[in-house]
Amino acid sequence: MLVVKNLQVFYGLIQAVKGISFEVKEGQIISLIGSNGAGKTSTLNALINAVKRKGEVIFLGYETKRHLTHSLVKKGISLVPEGRRVFINLSVEENLKIGAFNNDENYEHLKKQMYKLFPRLENKKNVLAGNLSGGEAQMLAISRALMSEPKLLMLDEPSLGLAPKIVGELFETIVRLKNEGITILLVEQNAYSALKISDYAYVLENGQIVLQNEAKHLINDDEVRKKYLGL
Ligand SMILES: Nc1ncnc2c1ncn2[C@@H]1O[C@H](COP(=O)(O)OP(=O)(O)OP(=O)(O)O)[C@@H](O)[C@H]1O
Ligand SMILES: [Mg+2]
Repeated sequence: MLVVKNLQVFYGLIQAVKGISFEVKEGQIISLIGSNGAGKTSTLNALINAVKRKGEVIFLGYETKRHLTHSLVKKGISLVPEGRRVFINLSVEENLKIGAFNNDENYEHLKKQMYKLFPRLENKKNVLAGNLSGGEAQMLAISRALMSEPKLLMLDEPSLGLAPKIVGELFETIVRLKNEGITILLVEQNAYSALKISDYAYVLENGQIVLQNEAKHLINDDEVRKKYLGL
């Protein structure tokens, strides 16, 4: 679904992503794990041309270089940004409406799907997004991204700042989305939770991929357990 070759991101003289290559296969959950400043967010933003990049990004066979972010959303890539940036002055329902900007005709149907996926959002449909709990805001951020009916859903640290119980529910939901046919690219510092649900994973350090393997191998690797999982 997605092939990335020699991706590089610079901020002035600082190089945040140093020529990484990876693949996201259709129907899988792929994780990029790594600590603060590893270049995870820069990578996701580069994939949707929200920051300038060098290298190749091929989505469904097409180089995405010439596409603006909103046209990539139309083509089927959707990002749930770091820090779940929902529109705090708009209601839950208004946030969903914005997520469906390219998909007006399916809005009512999709909204019902989202309320089925996250029943708590339906109870709060007229509440301002700024008044939601952290977990509810994350549910809304994911729902908003799903309103464009993506083929590839990218999530930037969805578990950040959430209680362990909510994190568990959230990761179960991600698996459910995969089972419904959505391909997932997951970025996480919470490496253990991410590996548990992933098919394949890449470890990012200092803008470079230092390790990659099937998630079930990484989770059983002594070095990975010590260095990245704190086990
Ligand atoms: N807009 C920016 N201008 C300058 N430097 C930046 C900018 N955004 C990120 N960086 C730098 O690029 C590097 C990678 O940052 P990035 O946010 O991609 O990391 P990350 O892996 O997402 O980290 P975190 O886990 O803290 O979210 C860091 O050294 C960061 O300071
Ligand atoms: Mg980040």
